[in-house]
Amino acid sequence: MNQKVGIDLIHFATSDFFLGLDVYAAQKNEDYDKFKIGIGQEKMSIAPPDEDVITLAAKAAQPILAQINPAEISSIYFATESGVDQSKSAAAFVHGLLGLPNRCRAIEIKHACYAGAAALQMAVNAVKANPSEKVLVIASDIARYDLDTSGEATQGCGAVAMLIAANPRILEIEPGSGYFTEDVMDFWRPNYRETALVDGKYSTKVYLNSLKQAWTHFEENTGRTFADIDYFCYHIPFTKMAEKAHKQLVKHTKTKQDSAQTQAQTIASQIYNREIGNSYSASLFIGFCSLMDNQPDLADKRVSFFSYGSGCVAEFFSGKMVAGYENYLMTASHQQQINQRKPLTYQQYLDFYHNSECPKQDIEFEVYHQGPFRLTGIQDQKRNYARTANNS
Ligand code: CAA
Repeated sequence: MNQKVGIDLIHFATSDFFLGLDVYAAQKNEDYDKFKIGIGQEKMSIAPPDEDVITLAAKAAQPILAQINPAEISSIYFATESGVDQSKSAAAFVHGLLGLPNRCRAIEIKHACYAGAAALQMAVNAVKANPSEKVLVIASDIARYDLDTSGEATQGCGAVAMLIAANPRILEIEPGSGYFTEDVMDFWRPNYRETALVDGKYSTKVYLNSLKQAWTHFEENTGRTFADIDYFCYHIPFTKMAEKAHKQLVKHTKTKQDSAQTQAQTIASQIYNREIGNSYSASLFIGFCSLMDNQPDLADKRVSFFSYGSGCVAEFFSGKMVAGYENYLMTASHQQQINQRKPLTYQQYLDFYHNSECPKQDIEFEVYHQGPFRLTGIQDQKRNYARTANNS
């Protein structure tokens, strides 16, 4: 019998602050509609200097650990393209911060925004090989571009933690997927840079071509068709990209669909991302949380996932929602985090932006955010983290 493996629990975290794209548009003398309608974004979650991919990851994972015996976690796969160390894995930092047992593997996985899907598939295969294993997959990123570039309006941050296990309670990942790799330079970040470089318009073309290629492979590999899928989750650098992707797939598969059907299949998965912005490797899975938290009656429905990582690697795969999944969602925490964020002025955003650049000398960060974990400072070239007083 084919062992069922997939997402047993899932929770995401974002920062305590946002920059409204209305404020951004006014600052740049642009029409707010360019962002609200043109790219489909309203806010960007902004991380303060004492928040990074590690603290966001720990914040995402903690509510999952509270529901299981942490000793059961055999491995942590940490996907990120905004990692904090060239050698030590982000997973090892999080392992320490969460106080996990030593009998655990901890590694970091990279390929731009695709790494989260790669980590998920690797975890599924690990659990299929040994169904007693439970793998904690974390995708965590802070999207940062240079100021006054086309990418600046598409920044954001977030982390998703997923427990991958046999007989999952939320989503069973189905066997078979379609993938596509091509060595291109649409978005990249050389080792000496803290911000990404992007050929923006080109990147959208490569994204759409990768979707067609990965879909065709998926169809050949699985025999599943467009009509077999109920809801579509796409990698969301900005929500208009997901809309364009769905239109492309409708056209590519010669599907007849009106705009109401398109909306029904895609809009629920875009609600959170419109507010959070790009979170690179986490973005697809924040979209999945958005779908589950905003679209009722998903039991037994098939959801597809298109992951796109610039550079580029793409994968199209699907999963079946498990009956009773709604009893395990952490909707209240997701919505509370989004709704309780504080707005930043453009100047406050700039202060965060500049003070988040990795310092080479010792520093003690002031307390900016109320989250359960903080980056307290850097001493002797070592990053120091701590649980905060708000850590229940
Ligand atoms: N009202 C309504 N719509 C308006 C408008 C207005 N006043 N003004 C402009 N628009 C529309 C434009 O017509 C355009 O729509 P279409 O794309 O449908 O033509 C849209 O708003 C954007 O306008 P521009 O093309 O002028 O915007 P831009 O050149 O400033 O930037 C971008 C667009 C290149 C995508 C830019 O946001 C960017 O560089 N983003 C970062 C790269 C990115 O996210 N790429 C996505 C694919 S790569 C990927 O997915 C990996 C990843 O996460 C990075």
